[in-house]
Amino acid sequence: MRLVTTVEELRAWRREAPPTLGFVPTMGALHEGHLDLVRFARSQNAAVVASVFVNPLQFGAGEDLARYPRDLAGDREKLAANGVDLLFAPAVEEIYPQGFTTTIDVGPVGESFEGAVRPGHFRGVATVVGKLLHLVAPQRLYIGQKDAQQSAVLRKLVHDLAYDCGVTIVPTVRESDGLAMSSRNLYLDERERRAAPSLHRMLRRFVELLKAGTPFEIARTEAANVLEAPGTLDYLACVDAESFAPLAALRENCFVIAAARFGNTRLLDNVWLPQ
Ligand code: PAF
Repeated sequence: MRLVTTVEELRAWRREAPPTLGFVPTMGALHEGHLDLVRFARSQNAAVVASVFVNPLQFGAGEDLARYPRDLAGDREKLAANGVDLLFAPAVEEIYPQGFTTTIDVGPVGESFEGAVRPGHFRGVATVVGKLLHLVAPQRLYIGQKDAQQSAVLRKLVHDLAYDCGVTIVPTVRESDGLAMSSRNLYLDERERRAAPSLHRMLRRFVELLKAGTPFEIARTEAANVLEAPGTLDYLACVDAESFAPLAALRENCFVIAAARFGNTRLLDNVWLPQ
């Protein structure tokens, strides 16, 4: 696996790259969920590019960018072992040189839920992924389903700006107790970690109740009881998978989404009902 850190080196590699290229953008601290994206990309493309870049633009003022876990040496080993051809790991100034002011805002799809709790977050995500897609020019982009709203934002980005690139949403990888894999799980203490899998159980219960015909608000209240202390619920909702507009019932191509706080850590999870 080749490691490059500059736009110039990436462009030089890209000029000679095989015809089908899969791209997995990450912020590093890689776990099995990321490696699953890489394996998907590996199975569908002649070459795979991954990026490791902790993107300052998607962190809000109160969010601790400095505390975000970083392990480039470990990430490098994992990516090489899973068949990545090129790792792009730029410094912040390489992506946002002095005087950088251009940003990408995809509109309403990024304004509710996570976008409301973290103003500017999806502008940061769309801007960095927009720039990376422009540089890597892959045929396919691989994104995890766990961050459902991010997946909707990025599909909208690719569609609206007409990137010549497909978007593959890869199912969430879970721990044996059902907890969705996430770099944020590292922040949980023992009690929080024990309670965290109840987030997914709550989502499954909500879907089960709705499928059984329970009225929406009654189902939501009953399902919310499944969340275990010290978890506190931020939201439990049903949304259109493309626009992220709230729905009052299940329907084709929707996400049932939830966010909960465990101490200082916010965890997200969802169930996707494509049909
Ligand atoms: O999901 C992530 O790790 C990040 O939001 C992404 C897509 C790599 C953009 O920085």
